[in-house]
Amino acid sequence: MSGRVVVTGADGYIGRRVAARFLADTDTRLVLTVRAADRAELDAKTARLLPELGPAADGRVEVLPADLTHEAPLAAVTGDVTAVVHSAARTAFDVSRPVAERVNVDGTRRVADFAARCPALERLVLLSTLVSAGLRTGPVPETALVGEAENANHYEWSKAAGERLVAAEFPDLPLSVARLSTIVADDDRGAVTQYNVFHNTLKMFFYGLMTVMPGLPHTRLYLATAAFTSAAVVRLASADAPTGVYHLAPTAGQALPLTDVMDTAFDVFGEDPAFRRRRLLRPEFCDDATFRHLLAAADGLRGSPAAGALRTVAPFAEQMFHPKEFTNDRLREAWPGMPTPAGLPLVAATCRSLVATRWGRQGADAGPVRAGSTS
Ligand SMILES: NC(=O)c1ccc[n+]([C@@H]2O[C@H](COP(=O)([O-])OP(=O)(O)OC[C@H]3O[C@@H](n4cnc5c(N)ncnc54)[C@H](OP(=O)(O)O)[C@@H]3O)[C@@H](O)[C@H]2O)c1
Repeated sequence: MSGRVVVTGADGYIGRRVAARFLADTDTRLVLTVRAADRAELDAKTARLLPELGPAADGRVEVLPADLTHEAPLAAVTGDVTAVVHSAARTAFDVSRPVAERVNVDGTRRVADFAARCPALERLVLLSTLVSAGLRTGPVPETALVGEAENANHYEWSKAAGERLVAAEFPDLPLSVARLSTIVADDDRGAVTQYNVFHNTLKMFFYGLMTVMPGLPHTRLYLATAAFTSAAVVRLASADAPTGVYHLAPTAGQALPLTDVMDTAFDVFGEDPAFRRRRLLRPEFCDDATFRHLLAAADGLRGSPAAGALRTVAPFAEQMFHPKEFTNDRLREAWPGMPTPAGLPLVAATCRSLVATRWGRQGADAGPVRAGSTS
């Protein structure tokens, strides 16, 4: 791959790893954009990012400021851009609708607008999420979203809206949409350096703050590592990977039933003496109506840890009642040698590292960003 590749949100969890992977797997030069209000913030972010990328970044990387809420965020990027990987986003499930719209929808339009002005562009890879499918159930193919679906939260809505608008307003762009799984660990060894609703839900169970699990036992979880995901993104940014929609996910057969994930987590928790001393029962699954009832009750208990626990899980819980079967045939075809997801052993390794570090509070050392093994 010659020319330069732009990665937005390059100091984010995935952006950093995608940058590291490009440096490890290709000889391309990189333009890494970060959000920075002023020179001092840009310098501080650059000073953190470059050492993380290591010597491979020497002479190949330029770090530029780009705020997606500004009019032309990538105007300072010059030269022969061959690919843009759009990773920047507001990623919290409880993001407000106006912020999600401004950053994830309007910001994506601005990135696409920049990409459309790059004469040498071979790929725009838009990082999206499997849950852009919303609250539908059943098979979800690797194709553009068809029809409307309710969403569990504004984050999901904004990622779907971003996908739709680029496809509709920029039909001539060489666009690939990479729909990411829920990332549970940096790699198959299970170390966790970014915490999301998956980890936070398990934490509530470990400390006994939640006693029911909202969802259907057979709903399958599509889990992946950051190493797998970043390798896939770099693969899709190559001109020889066809454009289109990809699910960076296990097959539906490899995806894990919620009940198996819970059993594995509790088996690992049971290895911990402090957890055993609490003598907690394994949670029962509860239906949607019961969970909503609990949430409504929690509204009246603002300060209680249990109420806080329920609210943490709420923005994602509805998905647990909407089982889906994602295909990944296109990804497997475009990525010869694609590693097989680790499945329950990954869940076990992740839970062990969560317990050992008490969810990052003890002995957590993120260390440098590694491109990482994907197998
Ligand atoms: N990690 C996952 O499990 C997962 C799953 C599915 C999809 N995805 C998608 O993958 C992409 C990367 O996710 P991530 O986990 O790396 O997220 P992340 O760690 O939250 O990083 C997001 C990046 O976007 C930047 N950003 C936020 N608002 C911005 C703005 N207004 N202008 C410019 N940059 C802005 C952040 O900068 P600041 O730090 O300065 O805010 C950060 O660098 C996102 O598009 C996300 O939707 C991730």
